Amino acid sequence: MQTVTEIQALRAVVRGWRESGQAVGLVPTMGNLHAGHYSLLKQARARCDRVVASVFVNPTQFGPGEDFERYPRTLAQDQAGLADHDCDVVFAPSVETMYPFGPEQSVRVQVPRLTESLEGAHRPGHFDGMATVVCKLFNLVQPDVAVFGQKDFQQLRVIERFVRDLGLPVTVLAAPIVREADGLAMSSRNQYLSPEERKRATGIHRTLLAMKTAHEAGRAPQEIELEAVAQLRELGFEPDYAAVRRSVDLGEPGVEPGEERIALIAARLGATRLIDNLLLN
Ligand code: PAJ
Repeated sequence: MQTVTEIQALRAVVRGWRESGQAVGLVPTMGNLHAGHYSLLKQARARCDRVVASVFVNPTQFGPGEDFERYPRTLAQDQAGLADHDCDVVFAPSVETMYPFGPEQSVRVQVPRLTESLEGAHRPGHFDGMATVVCKLFNLVQPDVAVFGQKDFQQLRVIERFVRDLGLPVTVLAAPIVREADGLAMSSRNQYLSPEERKRATGIHRTLLAMKTAHEAGRAPQEIELEAVAQLRELGFEPDYAAVRRSVDLGEPGVEPGEERIALIAARLGATRLIDNLLLN
């Protein structure tokens, strides 16, 4: 496995693969990798001859007061893990390499409407920074396939949308959420939790399961949401939202029979903000 930090070197490697007709997969990450990330690699590997993983803590998707500075940076450990998981190239650029004209570069990828609710409402600018960096990664690597986790469900939908609307030649694949044995969705941010918070953190998944049960019992989405918020507060969380949405576009649930729905939660436990979701049908 090779680690590349410069764009020219990245392009040279990928060009070689393409010239010999090999399909290229990309798994974008911010590093500090865990089994959730490695499951994406596996999915890319199943579809492609070559797999690139990017490791880049993207400053433009963090808001003021968020955890950009303290986000765990563990490149050596990630390189070892990626080598074990059959990765061909790690692309680990610096901020200057990704943003040679500064993070405030004039062109950004914005996905209106879809980014106005849920995470977008609580993290202004987050999705613009995320979509811009993912679009740049697509242009730099030019993958045939890119794999994203359903853990960040709205992020997945935002990426699918700009790929569709801009006609980008990449197939976006979704991978299921990988959980700890007790149900907590794996996340690099879990390590911010104190041992006591870590025990309580399973409350998010339990609340999602309760939302699913209520949904299966035919309860109204609004009632389900109110109860979930109350349950989260009781469990010691400060919820940003607990929502039932159409999974196709994260709009308010409609009346269409058989529409796929999803429950989504974002909640803070002490200083740590956690997100999770569960398909309801
Ligand atoms: P990061 O949080 O490192 O996540 C990288 C990818 O791993 C995302 O597609 C995310 O959904 C997936 N992932 C994280 N935890 C997972 C889990 N428990 N199960 C399955 N997949 C999981 O998401 C980002 O980085 C960034 O926003 C990025 C797309 C790299 C752009 O900067």
